[in-house]
Amino acid sequence: MMDLKAYLAERSSLVNDFLKKRIGVGAISPVDEAMAYSALAGGKRLRPILLMAAADAVGGKGTDFLCVASALEMIHTYSLIHDDLPEMDNDDYRRGRLTNHKVFGQAMAVLAGDGLLTQAFEVMTEQQGVAPDTMLEIIHLIARCAGPEGMVGGQALDIGAENKHLTPAEMKQLHEAKTGALFIASIRSGAILGGGSKEEINGLTKFAALFGLAFQITDDILDVEGDARIMGKNAGMDEKMNKSTYVSLYSLEKAKEMALDTLNEAEEVLRPFGEKAEPLLEIAKHLYNRKK
Ligand code: IPE
Ligand code: IPE
Ligand code: MG
Ligand code: MG
Ligand code: MG
Repeated sequence: MMDLKAYLAERSSLVNDFLKKRIGVGAISPVDEAMAYSALAGGKRLRPILLMAAADAVGGKGTDFLCVASALEMIHTYSLIHDDLPEMDNDDYRRGRLTNHKVFGQAMAVLAGDGLLTQAFEVMTEQQGVAPDTMLEIIHLIARCAGPEGMVGGQALDIGAENKHLTPAEMKQLHEAKTGALFIASIRSGAILGGGSKEEINGLTKFAALFGLAFQITDDILDVEGDARIMGKNAGMDEKMNKSTYVSLYSLEKAKEMALDTLNEAEEVLRPFGEKAEPLLEIAKHLYNRKK
């Protein structure tokens, strides 16, 4: 069996090194410092790692696509900076540090997010070794998943759901958009870049949707029973902000059951991929017991 810890450490350091080198190039203002502050604060780098693992799973070489992979991490980091703003979730800690606006002020934090989002698309197009029509498909996919049909739309639903009781279908839609969509962008991009067949691309997209849903359910669970020091962000914030979560709608126990069911389904979808998908499988298995 593979050593998942070593695998994640190795792949995340590739992303860290890339971002360290790339962010700040051409800087003309302090916004780059604010961008680097959050981007280099040590997140799990799951989205880029999954992109690379998906490319590997279809027989490609994931580490060849570090520009696109790291661009996804830039988009994700922007979403976190904005998510933490006082007008959104009003959080003080993220990735083991004070949140961006606590250090740089709200105006600069908004701009740091804008900078990361925009520069992500610049970095994406710096990717070598991808045919132009494939690159266009990737850019379109990532933009759609990150935008109002995906993450941004989900964040808007999330804000609208404060102090409300959602139906199970509304809850699922919210999670799939705000969190699932970026996982779909990552894994589907990886499958396309790795040269997967239509069937493989669609199979891994199905896996991504289930993985993303389970990921946000476990995030909701961690907000209730996680350790702030391990997570690098405060717990108990969802209840404080009256958020609609899997835990608030169902119960802690039921949310755990639903996370496990969703993950089992995701693992089932991976079965036809065999050994090449072992990292994807191990990452999914690890989700249920994650502490951060
Ligand atoms: C947190 O994402 C925000 C959600 C979508 C739930 P991660 O848990 O992947 O955060 P980092 O990147 O490791 O900081
Ligand atoms: C945020 O979900 C998802 C994003 C798109 C950033 P949460 O608001 O639950 O994420 P955390 O718990 O603050 O990391
Ligand atoms: Mg939020
Ligand atoms: Mg939040
Ligand atoms: Mg949360």
